[in-house]
Amino acid sequence: MCGIVGYIGNKKACPILIAGLTRLEYRGYDSAGVSTIEKKGLSIKKAKGRVKNLNTLDGINELEGTIGIAHTRWATHGKPSDENAHPHQDNSKTFSVVHNGIIENYTELRNLLENNGYHFYSQTDTEVIPNLIHYYFTKDKEKDSIMKFLRAVRNACLDLKGSYAIEVISSYFPDNMIVVRKDSPLVIGTCENEKYISSDIPAILSYTRDFYLLNDLEFTILSRTSAKFFDTELNEIKKKTDVIEWNSSAAEKDGYEDFMLKEIYEQPTAVRETIGSRISNNLKCEFEELKFTKEQLKKINKIYIIACGTAMHAGLSGKNTIEKLCRIPTEVDIASEFRYRDPIIDKNTLCIFISQSGETADTIAALKLAKSEGATTIAISNVIGSSITREADYSIYTHAGPEIAVASTKAYTSQVVLINILAIYFAEILKSTKKEILDNLKQEILSLPKKIEETLKCKDQILEFAKKVYQEKDMFFLGRGIDETVAKEGSLKLKEISYIHSESYAAGELKHGPIALIENGVTVIGIMTDEKLVEKTISNIQEVITRGAKTLIITNQKINYNSFNEAIVIPETNPLVSPILSVIPLQLLSYFISKEKGLDVDKPRNLAKSVTVE
Ligand code: M6R
Repeated sequence: MCGIVGYIGNKKACPILIAGLTRLEYRGYDSAGVSTIEKKGLSIKKAKGRVKNLNTLDGINELEGTIGIAHTRWATHGKPSDENAHPHQDNSKTFSVVHNGIIENYTELRNLLENNGYHFYSQTDTEVIPNLIHYYFTKDKEKDSIMKFLRAVRNACLDLKGSYAIEVISSYFPDNMIVVRKDSPLVIGTCENEKYISSDIPAILSYTRDFYLLNDLEFTILSRTSAKFFDTELNEIKKKTDVIEWNSSAAEKDGYEDFMLKEIYEQPTAVRETIGSRISNNLKCEFEELKFTKEQLKKINKIYIIACGTAMHAGLSGKNTIEKLCRIPTEVDIASEFRYRDPIIDKNTLCIFISQSGETADTIAALKLAKSEGATTIAISNVIGSSITREADYSIYTHAGPEIAVASTKAYTSQVVLINILAIYFAEILKSTKKEILDNLKQEILSLPKKIEETLKCKDQILEFAKKVYQEKDMFFLGRGIDETVAKEGSLKLKEISYIHSESYAAGELKHGPIALIENGVTVIGIMTDEKLVEKTISNIQEVITRGAKTLIITNQKINYNSFNEAIVIPETNPLVSPILSVIPLQLLSYFISKEKGLDVDKPRNLAKSVTVE
């Protein structure tokens, strides 16, 4: 949550900062602000509302400073308001700070500072940070120097409990910026005489491909020409840059109305990239990132797949394939539950963490827990160098390209593909499934990009259906087996961007309670892609039709479509990978409903792309 940007170079900082915030707005969008170092000292401009409001502020165009920090907020402590917007300053207005994360002990720190004469003007947890820096800076009797500034930031950070990515500038040091992160994302893009700082890579990808990926508590002093890194003892440490291969146009809308629509249409390419060379045309399956032996895999007696939201739904499909192909008991856990439920973990447990951003706070915490209990850990992420990939024993990337829309689409399909390939890789080592079955599944995976293109042709049919149902208050999504996992994802997508209440159920479970909610005109969406279960699901859908429901079905089975109001027919495939196709009409449905309602598809209310707080 919250996006932060920084610039240090020779150009005017403010337009660069606002452009960066606009790209990061999907992380939070209830207030925004910038602070630059001007000839007269630090300037601050901030306002409640979207980033574009900054352009209307008095004096914003007159800012000349070439160093600055900026923030777009997703409120945690204190309502969205001008006062609570970042940046925040200390009482003497010597230090400006932007912060992403949560300071858990801010009340205690605020009391300490108030007892030392400091005043607070916002309800945020962040405001303690610039004041603590000022407190330590003035207590330090050494001559002013950049190391004294660094010491003050370090001392302040060591007092903080919680998570933070922060940028600090000071009127005393007009050529520098200090940045540090702990459990919140922050990257530094570097060019010859410029440094760009951001919460994530896509926001600054148009300036550079060379990035420093910061680890927790690496204190960094930036100047136009250098980046110096220090540990908590303030010993200097050497860091190399990583070259990021993403194309900068991947972070632009490229003629599409919204990022979500673009990302839905990118799925054939994204899935192709995910498969990459992991399955070759001669059906060899390889994972160059993984080095598991049969002995190691044989010892694994339990697998947990841990994730949040859509990534967790991809995990449900992973469980299905891993259990079928590898015969290892697999459980899927919501990260925020897993970390507090005292799960049974030992050295024979394998934990797989799925996170598009790789920065989801609950997923990171669950990963740390699993490691501390001795489990082997694998991270599945879309973001190179993201936090979970740096924590886990092994990391494998989806390579789906940046996903900007808050609603996850291509990340989901590429996660499902990747976990299926992972299951095949394990099954081959374990010899737990016949070669013909695995080869057939590999062939199916290779044919998915084409089949996704085929599936996307249902767009007009879905648009027409969306026009009929967009004013509804409730919808139901039903499926059995693998289709139930897709029902869950369809329901989440609908809630998230169209604000229609929806429920997903295992189709057979409906009659145990929720069928009481079915009345004349209610929309029920049934997903049926598994030959073995289709007749059963049809019976359940008949039960709701009898009670007046309007039905849309998504199927690849040869059945009589006439009993349903609408049938979307998608290409046939192996049920293990059918979510990759059957989810697409549901993504499009929630998209078109949201558009019909005139909502902001890419930035739905109350949500943020990357949930970096607990
Ligand atoms: O970055 P992550 O994959 O860890 O994010 C997990 C969820 O927050 C995310 O999938 C969320 O549910 C999406 N907004 C759903 O569209």
